[in-house]
Amino acid sequence: MAQLRGKRILVTGGAGFIGFHLCQKLSDFTPNLTIYDNLSSGTLKNVTDLAKVNFVKGDILDLTKLYSQEKADLIFHLAAQVVVPYSMENPIEDFETNARGTLNVLEKARKDDAKLVFASSAAVYGNPNQLPTSEDYGFHPFSCYGLSKVVGEEYCGMYANQYGLDVTVLRFANVYGSRCHGVIHDFLDKISKNPSKLEIIGTGMQTRDFVHVSDVTEALILAASNESANGETYNIGFGKTTAIIDLAKMMLKILNLQDKTVITTTNVSWQGDIDKIWFDITKAKKELKWNPKVSLEDNIKDIIAEGKLTK
Ligand SMILES: NC(=O)c1ccc[n+]([C@@H]2O[C@H](COP(=O)([O-])OP(=O)(O)OC[C@H]3O[C@@H](n4cnc5c(N)ncnc54)[C@H](O)[C@@H]3O)[C@@H](O)[C@H]2O)c1
Repeated sequence: MAQLRGKRILVTGGAGFIGFHLCQKLSDFTPNLTIYDNLSSGTLKNVTDLAKVNFVKGDILDLTKLYSQEKADLIFHLAAQVVVPYSMENPIEDFETNARGTLNVLEKARKDDAKLVFASSAAVYGNPNQLPTSEDYGFHPFSCYGLSKVVGEEYCGMYANQYGLDVTVLRFANVYGSRCHGVIHDFLDKISKNPSKLEIIGTGMQTRDFVHVSDVTEALILAASNESANGETYNIGFGKTTAIIDLAKMMLKILNLQDKTVITTTNVSWQGDIDKIWFDITKAKKELKWNPKVSLEDNIKDIIAEGKLTK
């Protein structure tokens, strides 16, 4: 943390779910924090709820605007098209935002001689046959989203090797917490609309590694603060895997709906969906001294009780 004090920080995608939590933390110790976001999936509320940030409504594909931003010392690149099924229907748009957009942001980092932390994804592993999956499993993307993140990562590697840019890649598993989107939010949404039925897309046997956004935020900050993280890639998950059907049952139990809500499954999932996500997080624990603290079981009760997801 102390290493970041006073730095000029640019957060692309800062108006999104993870960006909000990261900027909330960063704004405590730097007055020079700029969010650059086109608000395609992020919200203005995520910006206005933060007292001490500069906000630029801008697209990472708009080179003139991006390069006219004040020189940064550190860039967190979170802006992305994040929806897997959308990437399968709109592969070119997904490529533009996630691959070309990442290249554009790397160029901004090169011009500024800034360190860059890139938000990548479990989707680069596709459907891994090594579980838990470690960083050296390699790229086996199974969706256009996964492939566009691979391209982003490859450019990060190129900029680190050829231009000596300080770059760290973090591969996130399934991030959850207040203001999130994704399966927990979808389930709560469905149950609130119709408590008699909860439909799971897919078989329900697909598993996910849920990591809380506060732990992800800490990993982002550690990656940015540690010189030894330059040129490295880290898995950021909880290191545990949970079947979606078990998540559904856990939520219904907490809501006391286990005898009232019938769980159904579509059996067929969306194109590009992954069967199992389970991260080996040994490297981040050892090298970043990062230890995820919030378990799904401990936190989900609070999330539901406090209605945190919809705040
Ligand atoms: N949430 C997860 O579980 C998860 C998992 C793996 C990886 N990630 C990665 O973490 C990052 C943040 O994800 P999130 O969950 O906060 O998603 P999000 O959709 O809430 O945030 C993405 C932000 O990027 C902005 N954005 C999109 N296209 C843009 C563009 N062309 N120019 C400028 N801004 C643009 C959106 O408006 C949004 O605010 C993404 O790169 C995502 O791929 C997230």
